[in-house]
Amino acid sequence: MAKPIIITGASSGIGYELAKVCAAKGHDLVLIARREDRLLGLKDSLQAAHGVQVLTYRGDLTDANTRYQFFDWTQFKGITPYGLINNAGFGALAPFAETDWDQQNAMLQLNIVALTHLTRLYLPSMIAQGQGRILNMASIAAFLPGSYMAVYYASKAYVLSFTDALATELEGTGVTATTLCPGPTESEFQDKAAMQNVAMFDAKNLPTSGDVAIYGYQAMEKGQRIAVHGTKNKMLTLVTRLLPRKKLAEISRDTQKPA
Ligand SMILES: NC(=O)c1ccc[n+]([C@@H]2O[C@H](COP(=O)([O-])OP(=O)(O)OC[C@H]3O[C@@H](n4cnc5c(N)ncnc54)[C@H](OP(=O)(O)O)[C@@H]3O)[C@@H](O)[C@H]2O)c1
Repeated sequence: MAKPIIITGASSGIGYELAKVCAAKGHDLVLIARREDRLLGLKDSLQAAHGVQVLTYRGDLTDANTRYQFFDWTQFKGITPYGLINNAGFGALAPFAETDWDQQNAMLQLNIVALTHLTRLYLPSMIAQGQGRILNMASIAAFLPGSYMAVYYASKAYVLSFTDALATELEGTGVTATTLCPGPTESEFQDKAAMQNVAMFDAKNLPTSGDVAIYGYQAMEKGQRIAVHGTKNKMLTLVTRLLPRKKLAEISRDTQKPA
């Protein structure tokens, strides 16, 4: 495969658009998500449009066995990825005391454990080949405590801290690690997170998943450490450095309190 890139969560939203951007740049792709019909449709259109090779894998990444099986399958196919894009993730809006534990646990497994595990599995071969790109999906949520989405925001803070540390460890290896931090973006995220009535998603002209994907791909290729999408979001992350964390938690409480 030509400079293959693995993309998790490629069946919708930002991951789907990242697959389109990577294929347009000539990368062969390995796509994983649970909705295989979506992946197969994307595979057909990308192969037809760009002449790249696309492999798909149906799997639930919250499950450690699935991750090992996916890794073994890519080994069997002889794939050493040039890129690993850990994009799959989800959130849920609710007071923490009322959350469904199985859902919160799945969020931790997907947003944190799967991202870390896949990075651990693929990184040695990327270092050995002396080149590679890791793009880990965080959010501007990584920069502040998020009342009523406490676990989601904390999971993204983990992604930022983990990836930033990794970026320094990787200096001089030819492999880079980038944290992508979008703000609210058009995708299926809002509906799945029960955030239909949250003001930040009401804003006109929300960036599309395609906008974020183009920006994320460019940041990954440049080996940028932290990539915050959009001027407003960049300013917001600067403000989070100035305000006390209690104030930040109150702001998130007031802006995303469930109805
Ligand atoms: N949209 C936003 O406002 C926003 C802002 C900042 C950061 N983000 C982050 O961007 C990433 C992509 O989200 P999105 O906005 O594109 O939302 P999305 O449209 O809901 O896409 C989420 C993707 O993750 C996959 N996924 C979910 N659970 C999975 C599981 N257990 N195993 C494997 N794949 C799974 C989904 O595929 P299947 O359901 O087919 O498995 C889907 O392809 C997430 O990490 C999210 O936290 C989003």
